[in-house]
Amino acid sequence: MSDLSEEILSQTLKRDFRYFPSVDSTNDIAQQWIREGAKAGSLILADEQLKGRGRRGRFWHTPPGVALAISYILKPSAEFATRSSMVGALAIYELCNSLGIQDIGIKWPNDVQIQSKKVSGILPEAVWDGDKLLGVVLGMGVNVRVQFDEELALIATNLEDSTEKALNRAELIGKILETADFWAARIASDELYFAWKSRLSTLGQHVVVEGADSRIVGEAVDVDSNGTLLIKTVDAKILPVMAGDVSLRPQDKGK
Ligand code: BTN
Repeated sequence: MSDLSEEILSQTLKRDFRYFPSVDSTNDIAQQWIREGAKAGSLILADEQLKGRGRRGRFWHTPPGVALAISYILKPSAEFATRSSMVGALAIYELCNSLGIQDIGIKWPNDVQIQSKKVSGILPEAVWDGDKLLGVVLGMGVNVRVQFDEELALIATNLEDSTEKALNRAELIGKILETADFWAARIASDELYFAWKSRLSTLGQHVVVEGADSRIVGEAVDVDSNGTLLIKTVDAKILPVMAGDVSLRPQDKGK
């Protein structure tokens, strides 16, 4: 019997949710639901995604039976909307922690890693009506027992490889929601920013940050309270980076 179904979720979730055995992207449905008036904390969940969306237009793989695909609806004020991804990263970080997993880190901006391999990705998407923020969809994808080919296994992992025991996806969702609800209620507090910052593995590293049409090399020295990464370049300039992919400088890999 599957560990995730409409029936199981109806018994465990005390909130509005919509569950799909298979869907293109949970984030698309959640965006539409926000336009129709979904409440904060409502959820879209799927067993499988056919067109799961990752950051920067990438495909996010959600095969049936082995992953979590969750879109959690937040209603922050526009001022704090960029902190939504901190809520997601902390929720997944704490999930890993509660399972007794060691060596967990958040790689800026919001990948959760175990032993430097990605176990979860977060995709926040804001929904606007003109200049009015209607809400934010916090998309969270978690590899529970997703298997990877040899090449991907170098950079990606799943929870069960760390726990070495079968996990129940409905229970994992319950744990994620406890932390997500806690931090969503505190999205305007500096406590959220400091909790996220203290779990970032990127600070202090020599990095290359690739943006849509930029490439910055330097030391990741800090993050501000909106989540912007601050890079110190070789000529000691501090450059803010709001979005991009961070990789370690080739000469620093393995350090
Ligand atoms: C990343 O590129 O790291 C972000 C991946 C986000 C994937 C999640 S799965 C649930 C939600 N629905 C989507 O289509 N994407 C997000």
